[in-house]
Amino acid sequence: MCGIIGYAGSRSCAGIIYEGLRKLEYRGYDSAGLALVGNGGVSTIRAVGNLESLGKELRRNGHPDASTGLGHTRWATHGRPSVENAHPHSDCSGKIAIVLNGIIENYADLKESLEGAGHRFTSETDAEVIAHLVELHYQGDLLQAVHRTCDDIEGHFAFCVVHDDHPGSIAGARRECPLLIGIGKGEHFVASAIPAFLTETRDVIEVGNDEFFLLTPDTAQVFDADLEPLEREVTRVQWSEDAAEKGGYETFMRKEIFEQPQALADTLAGRLPEDGDVVLEEMDISDTELAAVDKVYVLACGTSYHAGLVGRYVIERWARVPVELDIASEFRYRDPVITPTTLVIGISQSGETADTLVAMRQAREMGAKVLAITNIMGSQATRDADGVIYTRAGLEIGVAATKTHLAQIACMQLLALKLAQLKGTLPPGEVAAVAAELRSVPGLLERYLKSEAAAHDIARRYFEKPFFLYLGRGIGLPVCLEGALKLKEISYIPTEAYAAGEMKHGPIALLEKGSPVVVVATDGRVYEKVLSNIQEVRAREAAVIAVATEGNKAIRDFSDEVMYVPATSEMLSPLLAVVPLQLLAYYIARLKGCNVAQPRNLAKTVTVE
Ligand code: AGP
Repeated sequence: MCGIIGYAGSRSCAGIIYEGLRKLEYRGYDSAGLALVGNGGVSTIRAVGNLESLGKELRRNGHPDASTGLGHTRWATHGRPSVENAHPHSDCSGKIAIVLNGIIENYADLKESLEGAGHRFTSETDAEVIAHLVELHYQGDLLQAVHRTCDDIEGHFAFCVVHDDHPGSIAGARRECPLLIGIGKGEHFVASAIPAFLTETRDVIEVGNDEFFLLTPDTAQVFDADLEPLEREVTRVQWSEDAAEKGGYETFMRKEIFEQPQALADTLAGRLPEDGDVVLEEMDISDTELAAVDKVYVLACGTSYHAGLVGRYVIERWARVPVELDIASEFRYRDPVITPTTLVIGISQSGETADTLVAMRQAREMGAKVLAITNIMGSQATRDADGVIYTRAGLEIGVAATKTHLAQIACMQLLALKLAQLKGTLPPGEVAAVAAELRSVPGLLERYLKSEAAAHDIARRYFEKPFFLYLGRGIGLPVCLEGALKLKEISYIPTEAYAAGEMKHGPIALLEKGSPVVVVATDGRVYEKVLSNIQEVRAREAAVIAVATEGNKAIRDFSDEVMYVPATSEMLSPLLAVVPLQLLAYYIARLKGCNVAQPRNLAKTVTVE
C-alpha cells in the first residue's frame, strides 16, 4: 500500500518522479504528492485524487531546477484523503520532507510528546511524526537522524527523507515494507517497486529489512542496523518494459486476462518434464520432509485464498493429505494445531500482504515448514519461508488479480502432483497423464480467449441487476467465490457466493424473478447435483448463467445463458472456468462506467493488518 519513489541525480526530476508514480499508482490512489529540492529549497506539491490532479498542479509549477526529489501515491490509513494528509510531509522548518509506506504504530504517543516539545503538526497522519523526529534528531548528519528516528518508531515501514541542507541526497530506512534502489549513470532511484524506475534502469540493489540507505547522484550505500556499510550485489532485472504498460489494451486488467495463457505456460515451464519428477526448484524442504507431511495448512487472503481452496481439492484428491485453510488475518487469533509434519503454505501474489506474512511467521515459530507461493522475487514472503514456488505470471498491475490467480492454482496443482509422487498416491502413469493435460491448458485457454464474446453479450443483458448470486459445488465452489469477488470489487454490485447445495438453507430467499444466478456447472463428479440446484433456481424464475463444458448441449435446456469453456479433467477445470467469470465481471464493470483500473478503496498490495 502506498507507493514511494525518490530520485537523486542531475536531471530535472519532477517528470521522472511523476512517471514513476504512474507505475506505482496501483498501490494507492487517494492522493499523491512530490517534494522537490531545488534552488528555492524543498517544495512540496500535493493533490487529492488520482495522479491527474497532481499532474495539473505540476504543469502549473514543475520546479524544473530540482534534481532531487521524492514522490508518493497514497492509500489512506490514518486520516481521510485530503491535501493536508497527502505525502510528502514536512517538519516545522519546511527544510525536511518525508514519504512513508507502512504504519507507525506508536505515532499517537510520539505526536503527543513532539507537540509537547513545540512541534506543530498539520496532518492527521502517522507519517508526519517521522518528519518531526528527523528534525528533532538532526545534528548535521541526515543518515544519523534517520537512524535515531528508527529507534523511536514502532511498526512496519519504508520511508525516504530529503533535507534542504543536503540538496543532492536522499536517506531512508525500511522495516518489513519493500524498498529497492535503481542504479543509473550519475543518478540513483529508490522505490517501493521496480516498475517505478524500470524505464530508467534495470540495475537494482535491495535495501534489506532493518537496513538504511543513503543516495547521492554518484553513490548508493546501504547500511546495517548499526549503520555499518554493507556490500550489495547489483541484480540486473529482466522484466520487459511493456509489463508496466497497457500495450494497446484499455486497462491493465483486460491485458492481464489476455496474458493468462502465457502466465500459465511460464508457470509450468520446466516443472513438468515429460517422464520425470515434478521439479520445484526453490525448495529448501527435502523430498523426505515433503513425503512425511501429514497435513497441509494454507494461509492467504482474497483471491489468493481462493487459489488455496482449489489447492485443497487437488491435494486431497491426488496426494490424500488433509488440507486446512485459514484466512490469514484469522489464523493468529485461533489456536491452530500445527506440528513439525504440517506443511504451511502462504499464498500471496505480492509477497507483502501483512496478514499473510504474520500468519506465516507464526506458523514457522510453531515448528511448521513454511512454503511461499508468490509472484514477486525477493519479496518478504520468500524470506519468511523455507521454500518458494514462484508464480511466473509477470508483473500484475491490475488491482483485481487475474493472471496471478491462475498461476497460483497451477502452483498448487504442481505441489499436489509432487506430494502424490512422493507419497505414491498416484500411479506414475496417472501423474504423467495429468502433467500432459496440464501442459495443454495454456493452448485451450488461448483458444477460449479468442471466442470470449459470450461474456460480453451476457454482461449487456444483466449489468443493471442489483445483485448476483454465484453457486458452485466441489472444485467449482472456489471458482464461484472468485467470480463473485471479482464482480463486487470492480463493479460494486453486491454478490454472494455459496455452495450450491447450501442455497436451500438460506440464500434461496434472495431469489426473485430474473435474479441473475451464476452457476459453475462444468463436467465432474458433482455435475448432476449442480443440475438439481439449477432446477431449484429456475423454479423461483431466477435467471441461470451457467459456465459449462464445451459439448454440453443439454445445459441449454436448464439455463438462460451459457458460457462454454474447453473440456478438461475435473481437477484442472478451475483454470478455465474462472476466466469467463473474470470477463463477465470486467464487462459489467465497464458497462456500469466503473473505474476498473482504480476500484474505490482498494489497493493492490495490502501491507496493513
Ligand atoms: C484480488 O483481486 C484482490 N484485490 C485481493 O483480494 C488480493 O487477492 C488480496 O489482497 C491478497 O493479496 P496478495 O495475493 O498480494 O497477498
